[in-house]
Amino acid sequence: MTTKKNIRLPKSKGIETATVYTPDECLKKIKHIVLQENNQQIVEEFITIQNMKQKFEEAEVSIPNKIVMFGPPGTGKTLTAYYLASRLELPLIVVRLDAIIHSHLGETGSNIRKIFEFAKLAPCVLFLDEFDAIARARDSIDEVKEMARVVNTLLQCLDEFHSNSTFMAATNLEEELDTAVWRRFDTRMTYELPGRAELDVFLTKLLGVSQEKRKLIEQSKELLQGCSFADIEQIILKAKRKMIIEDSEMSYDKIAHGYAAYNPRTLPRDAAPVGAIS
Ligand SMILES: Nc1ncnc2c1ncn2[C@@H]1O[C@H](COP(=O)(O)OP(=O)(O)OP(=O)(O)O)[C@@H](O)[C@H]1O
Ligand SMILES: [Mg+2]
Repeated sequence: MTTKKNIRLPKSKGIETATVYTPDECLKKIKHIVLQENNQQIVEEFITIQNMKQKFEEAEVSIPNKIVMFGPPGTGKTLTAYYLASRLELPLIVVRLDAIIHSHLGETGSNIRKIFEFAKLAPCVLFLDEFDAIARARDSIDEVKEMARVVNTLLQCLDEFHSNSTFMAATNLEEELDTAVWRRFDTRMTYELPGRAELDVFLTKLLGVSQEKRKLIEQSKELLQGCSFADIEQIILKAKRKMIIEDSEMSYDKIAHGYAAYNPRTLPRDAAPVGAIS
């Protein structure tokens, strides 16, 4: 595949080291996104700055372009990369870890360098998911010396990344990251499981806004406390499937059945035991 003015994506082990999504493709993925208020503010400010670059350059104030996202699974880190690319109307380049990481660590470093160089060729959002796989603390692994070299390459790439592109990284293992790596990021976003407000907005997006739905959402909020957005999405999907099979209305029972069937790992603190629902 060719992208970005027909420039070829770097390859490793015979496969491309990234997947490219157009802003339109990104937009399709983020229909139901709910960002915590503080994260929404961070994103808005980031976009504002990108749109007034000249003023920043005149004032000799550096423009942020490196974002790190940290938080539990299923809370919207990956989704935020799609969201930002779509808002900035830039292609999203999602790094393929399986292609980047090589049994010869020297190759891994070289792959990292190539993908960063690629991202500098034209404005884009470069996204490295499961960032911890590369940016592990330099003293926490077996092949210490070799891995340290990979981390050093990454640090260099981050230092040299002052282009019109944005680099985003996500992890749920904040404590495993090298502090030198953390320092390289100018924007940090922390994700949490949805609180009551986010649950409300998310369920409204998934279920609808009628008066009946309002009641259903209030009831379901109790049950779904402690679940991630990803869990909730799966539970509601199960309920919707049941609704279609039975040709009936959405109901609390269906959501409770979806919950019991999906059995999310994060058990809600105050909810009834799963067995009591079905
Ligand atoms: N904040 C959110 N708003 C709306 N939907 C969400 C949100 N977070 C997660 N989801 C739903 O869950 C799916 C997985 O989310 P995502 O991949 O963004 O999670 P993540 O935080 O990157 O998780 P992981 O740490 O496992 O990579 C999304 O495709 C979306 O359907
Ligand atoms: Mg993710």
